[in-house]
Amino acid sequence: MADHSTPPSAQLAQASLNDGVYGSQVLKAEFSDRVLIRSIISRTDGGSGLAGQRVRIGGWVKTGRKADKDAFAFLELNDGSCPGNLQVIVEADKADLGQLVPTGTCLSVDGVLKLPPAGTKQKVELRVEKVVHVGTVDPAKYPLPKTRFTLEFLRDFVHLRPRTNTISAVARIRNALAFATHTFFQKHGFLYVHTPIITTSDCEGAGEMFQVTTLISEAEKLEKELIKNPPPTESDLEASRLVVKEKGDIVSQLKAAKSSKQEIGDSVAELKKAKENFAKLEVRSKLKPGIPQKDGKIDYTRDFFARQAFLTVSGQLQVESFACALSSVYTFGPTFRAEHSHTSRHLAEFWMVEPELAFAELEDDMNCAEAYVRFLCQWLLDNCFDDMEFVADKFDKGCINRLKMVASTPFERITYTKAVEILVEAVKNGKVFENKVEWGIDLASEHERYLTEVIFQKPVIVYNYPKGIKAFYMRLNDDSKTVAAMDVLVPKVGELVGGSQREERYDVIQSRILEMGLPVEPYEWYLDLRRYGTVKHSGFGLGFERMILFATGIDNIRDVIPFPRYPGRADL
Ligand code: 4AD
Ligand code: MG
Repeated sequence: MADHSTPPSAQLAQASLNDGVYGSQVLKAEFSDRVLIRSIISRTDGGSGLAGQRVRIGGWVKTGRKADKDAFAFLELNDGSCPGNLQVIVEADKADLGQLVPTGTCLSVDGVLKLPPAGTKQKVELRVEKVVHVGTVDPAKYPLPKTRFTLEFLRDFVHLRPRTNTISAVARIRNALAFATHTFFQKHGFLYVHTPIITTSDCEGAGEMFQVTTLISEAEKLEKELIKNPPPTESDLEASRLVVKEKGDIVSQLKAAKSSKQEIGDSVAELKKAKENFAKLEVRSKLKPGIPQKDGKIDYTRDFFARQAFLTVSGQLQVESFACALSSVYTFGPTFRAEHSHTSRHLAEFWMVEPELAFAELEDDMNCAEAYVRFLCQWLLDNCFDDMEFVADKFDKGCINRLKMVASTPFERITYTKAVEILVEAVKNGKVFENKVEWGIDLASEHERYLTEVIFQKPVIVYNYPKGIKAFYMRLNDDSKTVAAMDVLVPKVGELVGGSQREERYDVIQSRILEMGLPVEPYEWYLDLRRYGTVKHSGFGLGFERMILFATGIDNIRDVIPFPRYPGRADL
């Protein structure tokens, strides 16, 4: 019977993340003729209850060795369904063992699950009866060495790094956090909205956008074409013009001589052809190599979208238009920033989760962000514990306790002014920061981390920032000096979430746009949301990769996204 105390989405999550834990029958993978290694070794009995079962397994060899004078090969096989490997034993009469043992070899095998001899680490192992497929590896050429290597080294092999324990654990954690994100917002009645990736509005007004244009490739294409097929010269045009005139004269003569319909019709057709040919030549004669210009500036009316366009830095502005009609919405997609940040916390392409709530003020926004982050932490503890144990062992001994702490502890909330007071006090007591602390500064990562790691030792929400350092859309507070912004700061990472109550007053937001020197025209549609049926509303953006950094304790953001993009690098 269904468990009615758990929402259906959570039941589904449980089922898909924990399947195959109970029973003495092995669970076949769906859409494939094999059994996932997870459904064997991640059972509470480690798979021992499945001894005697016949299964087909597929995976890649982590380590392999021949034993007993080459009579057997012992292989550790991993298929990515869980961090653990299944031990597979192949006898020499079943295959060329030398082909099976190199790391990275792909295998599909049929065999029988057996209890291993007492005293071994495994709870179950597979005795192979038939080797179904071998995807061989030449160990002399395989790019990943057998010895330990750094995550930085691996970035030169982004296409092969999913084969490593770390990147595959991160991939599963990332997947779980995405599932948790949809679960959280769907459970709380938010509607998922797909906001555009190509946009003509700069959400943060910071001018850090990648431009989307076909002008350059079109110009290059044209340049090549004009070399191959030069444009008509003035004399080509003149000759063509003459042909038109001649054909026109013939038509006139035939008409005057009252020639047959047939003859006149044929000459008119020839005239038409000559005119078309001339028109084509005229168009080609105007083609100029290079980017089209008008009044000394690039002519974007000739660009693909007939205007300048960019990759989005945030889906917020567009998602607001849905919040101001459907109340609670969220968007979750890739965002792009052309900032030249070479830090371990910045990517040029990253994913952001952006909820937007109508009829909600700053405090509601903080409550939502806190509930969401705590939900994510609890989710990883409930659904991804084996991967968390792996990263705890390899990267950050404290990461599981940190998840537990965050899941169970209310966040600290302090104003920006208070935060600065605390930092100034710290400096007085001898703490040295690289960046000067005074009211009005944008808090640097070192300040954020000091507050959350040293002072409070838990997540801190800092709110009511000076208006001068925040975006134009944030709601001006009554003091006219601060805006209703909030950032969630967490240990290890610093800023995880940035959000605010939005300025819903037409006059105020219009003057804020002007005050910040931004052009009003691109934001007219955004102002319409205030002109027509305005509403108090709030939202935030959670940096998805920063959340993974926080959860795993991995040091560099480039290692928690499958294909990192940063200055100088966009592999694949
Ligand atoms: O604080 P940010 O810039 O806020 C916004 O973009 C708002 N429009 C969000 C909203 O209110 N809907 O970015 C939000 C979060 C940051 O707190 C940080 O976690 C992450 O996005 N972030 C980055 N992550 C990786 N690389 C970068 N270059 C990032 N820039 C921001
Ligand atoms: Mg921010």
